[in-house]
Amino acid sequence: MNEPTALADDLAGLAVDLARGAAEVVRAGTADHGPVFAKSDAVDLVTRVDRETERWLVEQIGRSRPDDGVLGEEGGERLGHSGVRWVLDPIDGTVNFVLGLPLYAVSVAVQWQGRVVAGAVCNPATGELYRARVGGGAFLEFGGSTAPLLGPRTVALSGAVVGTGFGYDRARRGRQAVVAAALLGRVADIRRLGAASLDLCAVATGRLDAYFEAGLSVWDYSAGALIAAEAGCVVTGLHGEPASERMAVAVGPTVAAEFVALLEELSADAVMDDPAD
Ligand code: IPD
Ligand code: CA
Repeated sequence: MNEPTALADDLAGLAVDLARGAAEVVRAGTADHGPVFAKSDAVDLVTRVDRETERWLVEQIGRSRPDDGVLGEEGGERLGHSGVRWVLDPIDGTVNFVLGLPLYAVSVAVQWQGRVVAGAVCNPATGELYRARVGGGAFLEFGGSTAPLLGPRTVALSGAVVGTGFGYDRARRGRQAVVAAALLGRVADIRRLGAASLDLCAVATGRLDAYFEAGLSVWDYSAGALIAAEAGCVVTGLHGEPASERMAVAVGPTVAAEFVALLEELSADAVMDDPAD
């Protein structure tokens, strides 16, 4: 780790405070989230609570660390000059939030010189808080206790329960469905939780054996990917690339190579990583 440990510790602590505080803002808006607006597609939603929560996060960061940059899903962007940038999803899983399905989260990642060094993901509906600092392990805080996260059980790929998701782009969804259908015959089962940050944290906690999704945005996966990696998971893209907006995979180390090879085979058939996207 090149960044001073004290800085990474400070950033990690603030990430946790921000995720917890923002989860309170979300919780306060749960009973009446106001009108729902469509963004890129009828299923790509934003509410008043998404916007208010992001505004709250950006204000808090401005107060504590005015020189830092910010990138938020709902348009909160500020260029900084400290080398630190916050990557925020005020509500990951907005569709679940609107439906009242308790699978949504505030996701706060913090980069130092372009690399994620700490992250926190808090589910306002359950109170679960996942956190990690690079090189420091990953933890779940719930009900006053803290447990280290150790990744999925050891299981053959044919017995694995795999999470995935489908983006808002209709053409990509068609290809994602082809891959998911083919994958169903090769693993035990598939889950679609509807919040990428929680999918990644589910692999970190061992509630899922693996997860993959093409076409995420950086705010969807940055914090969760660090949490999964710090829990000992392999976090990667396909064809030797790192996890990215093109493809993010998290899986336990024992089946990682086999799983990635399978995804490469299936996605090549479905042309899932079409560069035209
Ligand atoms: C979405 C969720 C969903 C994933 C989509 C994301 P949002 O984030 O993480 O699970 O499949 O690709 O865009 O829009 O609810 O913040
Ligand atoms: Ca969101």
